[in-house]
Amino acid sequence: MESAVKRIGVLTSGGDAPGMNAAVRAVYRACVNFGIDCLGIYRGWNGLINNDVRRLTPRDIGHIINRGGTILYSARSKEFMTEEGQKKAVATCKLFGIDGIVAIGGDGTFRGALALSKYGIPVIGIPGTIDNDISSTGYTIGFDTAANTAIECIDKLRDTMSSHERCSVVEVMGRNAGYLAMYVGMAVGATAVLVPEVKVDIEHDVLEKIRSARLNGFTHYMIVVAEGATPRANEVAQLIRDGLGLDPRVTILGHIQRGGSPTARDRVTATRMGYYAVKALTEGKANRVVCVQSGDMKDIDIDEALAMTKTLYPLDAETLAAMTQRLPHIQY
Ligand code: F6P
Repeated sequence: MESAVKRIGVLTSGGDAPGMNAAVRAVYRACVNFGIDCLGIYRGWNGLINNDVRRLTPRDIGHIINRGGTILYSARSKEFMTEEGQKKAVATCKLFGIDGIVAIGGDGTFRGALALSKYGIPVIGIPGTIDNDISSTGYTIGFDTAANTAIECIDKLRDTMSSHERCSVVEVMGRNAGYLAMYVGMAVGATAVLVPEVKVDIEHDVLEKIRSARLNGFTHYMIVVAEGATPRANEVAQLIRDGLGLDPRVTILGHIQRGGSPTARDRVTATRMGYYAVKALTEGKANRVVCVQSGDMKDIDIDEALAMTKTLYPLDAETLAAMTQRLPHIQY
């Protein structure tokens, strides 16, 4: 049966994430496969408000699978959250004959999708954010690349921190979620990792761990702090200064974590999700978010996806606690 969908728009919105380009490419190529016209909507939801739309060509999507960022540009649109903005977006869809939209981004992007769906425009969301904070999916595009970038930076920091026998406090992104910091902290063998999901007792969770390491002969320490944690990295450093008399150096990794060529995991997940999203639209699905759970691709209702809250996996939290616990003091 021929699909009723003739023309699809694709956009990227919110914080960019490595692998978004791979997803755009996959959407385009899936459209070619299904005989659908593929339009690029530029600058996130703002593109629909400002008629910032044009047909994608093979040239646009050539050699982008390996590129970080997003060729469609990204933005967080306040206007799109207003009724007036949404009506302009609907008018743009009519003008360009857009039958369905693939929106790549995080939960802000999905809230936009939900708003548009009320006007009868089918949207399929693809989770793309380095934070991996979308509850309905086990994985979001960009996380693996961001984690590896942070790990590479922290490994470098460790070289200089160990030479100078210093304490390093590193802030990792993740907005209100600690998943990225937890993952990175585990991968670099941090002395302590602070995440928003776990209430911090500075004496027990940081100072005593550094003391324990020192008693065992270690002279440099790596404290990983999620940007959403309390206290934040600079305060943690001050507490270490006050409590232990050390002179920590603070590094805020910041937006460097959002750049770079996507890893194989991000490219392949983005490719699978891009294809899945277009296929879902051709099957008449609307207002769904693509998810990956235990390796399988699924789709769930946007409302449902937004209502879920993500916590750290209990086994991850348990493993992290075990890996950063104070070591027994070595008796000589
Ligand atoms: O959601 C992705 C993210 O990079 C978060 O980790 C971070 O808190 C936020 O975006 C930063 O946003 P902006 O690019 O607006 O500074």
